[in-house]
Amino acid sequence: MGSGRCVLLALLLRLLLLSEPPAGVSAAGSSSSFLGEAKDAEVFQWMRGLRGRIHEHPELAYEEFETSRLIREELDAMGIPYKHPVAVTGVVGFVGTGGPPFVALRADMDALPIQMCSLMGCRSNFVMILQESVEWEHKSKVSGKMHACGHDGHVTMLLGAAKILQRHREDLQGTVVLVFQPAEEGAGGAKKMIEDGAVENVEAIFGFHVDSENPVGVVTSRPGPVMAGSGFFEAVISGKGGHAAIPHHTIDPIMAASNVIVSLQHLVSREADPLDSQVVTVSKIQGGEAFNVIPDSVVIGGTFRSFSRESFAQLRQRIREVIVGQASVQRCTATIDFLDDKVSHFPVTVNSEDLHQHFVEVAGDVLGSNNVRTRQPVMGSEDFAFFSEAVPAAYYYFLGMKNESQGPLKPPHSPFFRINEEVLPYGAALHASLAAEYLAQAHTRSAAAQAQGQVHDEL
Ligand SMILES: *[C@@H]1O[C@H](CO)[C@@H](O)[C@H](O)[C@H]1NC(C)=O
Ligand SMILES: [Zn+2]
Ligand SMILES: [Zn+2]
Repeated sequence: MGSGRCVLLALLLRLLLLSEPPAGVSAAGSSSSFLGEAKDAEVFQWMRGLRGRIHEHPELAYEEFETSRLIREELDAMGIPYKHPVAVTGVVGFVGTGGPPFVALRADMDALPIQMCSLMGCRSNFVMILQESVEWEHKSKVSGKMHACGHDGHVTMLLGAAKILQRHREDLQGTVVLVFQPAEEGAGGAKKMIEDGAVENVEAIFGFHVDSENPVGVVTSRPGPVMAGSGFFEAVISGKGGHAAIPHHTIDPIMAASNVIVSLQHLVSREADPLDSQVVTVSKIQGGEAFNVIPDSVVIGGTFRSFSRESFAQLRQRIREVIVGQASVQRCTATIDFLDDKVSHFPVTVNSEDLHQHFVEVAGDVLGSNNVRTRQPVMGSEDFAFFSEAVPAAYYYFLGMKNESQGPLKPPHSPFFRINEEVLPYGAALHASLAAEYLAQAHTRSAAAQAQGQVHDEL
């Protein structure tokens, strides 16, 4: 293309772009005014009420029937159409033109059962009954179940965003897809939502988790991998049992298992790039019952984590090789189960670079740019990862909810976990702003692309 045409094209594009509302103060209204709307006393009290009702009746994976009903009642009241059921209890709402582009916002709905581990994303043999230990007016009314991960707040904030977006629906330049998904806690709810078509035609999706570490009004995230992929394994190491005093008549699986466990620790320390964080943990070992009997077999199991698909696949392959190979050194055999059918394996959650820019700009508008901070990746996993694989661009961030003057908050999955409700307007406004601005900018981009096409036709 000649340079004369380029200048003409540039002029035409410029004219076209100038006729659009500038980004950040889009037709959908400025992002900071969404925060004002979400903080409005009536909206705030409505959100607190919703969250209290959901919190009192925690429901586990794929059993979120009352939560799902509450969501649909609220969408009905707002006049927002939706699909239901999606993935058993899931709900997918639509705000805006009903046509493309489609941008999605995601909230998870499930509460936690009896659980023994205290890290976000962990799942395990259930040992301790998770009984809410926070005394407040909406304390869990269901024994052994609790919204101890903040998903009651996530549902509430997405409903808050729905209200704001619906008020501004005439200004939306596309469709916001509201994704209420079941079963985040290890039961693959996101995967099932995707299989049931929840994000068909969606070109970008946003999700967040409340964060006990950072203050209200602060958000943190990063471009690229943000939460680890997680896998699990269980191995049976078999030898030949016998009397402990006659070891030469046995093939000792306890010795073999011990060497296997030590060798597994070399995968990260000797085979992984020190700058590519990975974890291999053997967290389970069972075998032998008597002081004087060498058992026939030993069972070991654990988890592995990484921040790239390549290192994840590499770990998985090497865990198998090390267990089989090291067991055979001591004349034992080993079988390995990666528990693919029994526990949900989460892929790595990868944030789009483009959406990171979008997030920094929009969240900066809403909160002030010094409150939008870069963070380290987290070794925990999140099934939002499935959306980050299924949708062209995905973005996951952490929404601070600590208030210094009210003391520290307990981490997720603790029976003392609580949400600082001051966070509710922030999550609602961020959801709404990220989606509305995304549509405004996508509209500008496609208009520019169209103009470019027309110019080509005319020239
Ligand atoms: C933190 O708590 C104090 C005291 O309860 C309150 O006055 C203040 O507004 C809270 N801060 C935020 C950011 O909501
Ligand atoms: Zn959780
Ligand atoms: Zn959670």
